[in-house]
Amino acid sequence: MRVAMIGTGYVGLVSGACFSDFGHEVTCVDKDASKIEALERGEIPIYEPGLDVLVNGNMQVGRLTFTTDLANTVPEADAVFIAVGTPSRRGDGHADLSYVYAAAREIAPLLTGYTVVVTKSTVPVGTGDEVERIIREVAPDADFDVASNPEFLREGSAIEDFKRPDRVVVGTDAERAQDVMRELYRPLFLRETPMVITNRQTSELIKYAGNAFLATKISFINEMADICEKTGANVIDVAKGIGLDGRIGKLFLHAGPGYGGSCFPKDTLALVKTAEDVGAPTGIVSAVVEANASRKKRMAHKVIEAAGGDVSGKKIAVLGVTFKPNTDDMRDSPSLDIIPLLKESGASIRAFDPAGMDEAKDLIDGVDWADNAYDAINGADILLILTEWNEFRALQWDKVAKAMPGRLVVDLRNIYTPHEVARQGFTYHSIGRAPAIA
Ligand code: UGA
Repeated sequence: MRVAMIGTGYVGLVSGACFSDFGHEVTCVDKDASKIEALERGEIPIYEPGLDVLVNGNMQVGRLTFTTDLANTVPEADAVFIAVGTPSRRGDGHADLSYVYAAAREIAPLLTGYTVVVTKSTVPVGTGDEVERIIREVAPDADFDVASNPEFLREGSAIEDFKRPDRVVVGTDAERAQDVMRELYRPLFLRETPMVITNRQTSELIKYAGNAFLATKISFINEMADICEKTGANVIDVAKGIGLDGRIGKLFLHAGPGYGGSCFPKDTLALVKTAEDVGAPTGIVSAVVEANASRKKRMAHKVIEAAGGDVSGKKIAVLGVTFKPNTDDMRDSPSLDIIPLLKESGASIRAFDPAGMDEAKDLIDGVDWADNAYDAINGADILLILTEWNEFRALQWDKVAKAMPGRLVVDLRNIYTPHEVARQGFTYHSIGRAPAIA
C-alpha cells in the first residue's frame, strides 16, 4: 500500500517509520523544509529509542521518503494520514483543530482514485465529520472516505507500542475503507492483535476515554498515597493489593508527583470541554484535571516540609526534569511547577537530566545545570528525585554521602526502598510510604 503521512511530529514520524517497516511505501510530508532536509540526512528531531535505526533502515531500502511536496504525494496514496498537532487552544483548553482542517483543505483537490483519509491526530468527537465536509466542499467529485485511527503510543516505547499494540482501533462505516485499514495493519494479524472496528465518533471518543481513564487511575492512586502518608499504610502494597484484582489491573497504579506529558493533561482538558459542549459534563474527569494540577504544586511543599518547613538558603540537587524517563519532552512536566516554587522559597537548584536539559533550559530560569548526577549532588543539602531514569536507580550511596553534606533524600518516584536509603545514613521521604529516618 502507498501511504502519505502528513506531519512529521512525534506521531507522524513514528507511524510513518513503522508502516514502512511493515512493508508499505510511505512518504512523510511536512511544511518545514529544514526538518525534511534533516530527516533526509537521517537526523531524527525527537528523542525516541530505536527510531533512528528504523528510519534510516527503511530509507535505505527506499520504502520511506520525506518531502515538502504534497501535490506529488497525495495523488499516489491509497491512504492519507493526517498526523498534525492538536495543541490545547490558548485560554479555553479546547483542542486546536486549525492544523487538521488546513491539512484537509490542502489534501482535498489532490485526491486521485479511491483514497482513505485517516485522522491519526487526537481529535474530539465529530472532527472526522468536519474533515469530510471540508473535503467534499473543496472537491465534490473526490472518491474518498474519512476514517479515524487513534494512536496509543507512549513516548519512550513508541515503536514497541506501534508494532505490538494491545489493539488497533479503526472508525469508519465504509467497507472499502475498512479493507484498506486491514491491509495496512496486516502484519499485526499474525500476532492476533484485536482490531476494534467501529463508527468514526466512537473511535474518536475511545482515544480520549482511554487517556482519561489512565489519568484517573494515576490520580486515584496518588490520592491513596496521600491517605497512606497520614495513616502509616504503604501505597506500593495498596497498588499491588488492588492491582492483582483482574478487574482493576496492576498497570498505571504507580503513585508519583502527578502526570505530565503532551497527552494526558491536554486530552483530559479537551474531554472536559467536549463534555460541556455536548451537555454531558463529566464530574470525574474535571476532578482529575484539578487534582493533578494541585498535586504538582503540592509536591514542592512536600519537599519543604521534609526539610523541616524551610528551604531558604538550601542547595537542592534535582535528578530528572522530564515528565518521564526515555524522553526529552518537558511538556507539563511536574518539574515545571516544583522547581520554580522551591526557588521562590529561597532554595538554590542544581539539576541534571540525561536528555531533557536543552529543552528545560528555556523553560526554567535560574537553575544551575550539572554534567551528571554526582555533579548535581555535589555540595547539596537535599537530594530530590523527580524522574525515574534508570541511571538514578542505582546511585552509589557512599559516593553520594561524600559529595553532599546534607542527609535528606526526597524521592517523588519511589525508586528506592526506604530502609535501604536510611541504612546509608540518609533520611528518606517518598510517596505514600512512611519516611525512613537515618
Ligand atoms: C500516553 C498514553 O500512555 C499512550 O497510550 C497515549 O498514546 C499517549 O499518552 C498519547 O495520547 O499520545 P505518554 O504521555 O507518552 O503516553 O506517557 P505515559 O507513559 O502514559 O505517562 C504519562 C504520565 O503519567 C507521566 O507523567 C508518568 O510519569 C505518569 N504516570 C504513568 C504515573 O504517574 N503513574 C503511572 O503509573 C503511570
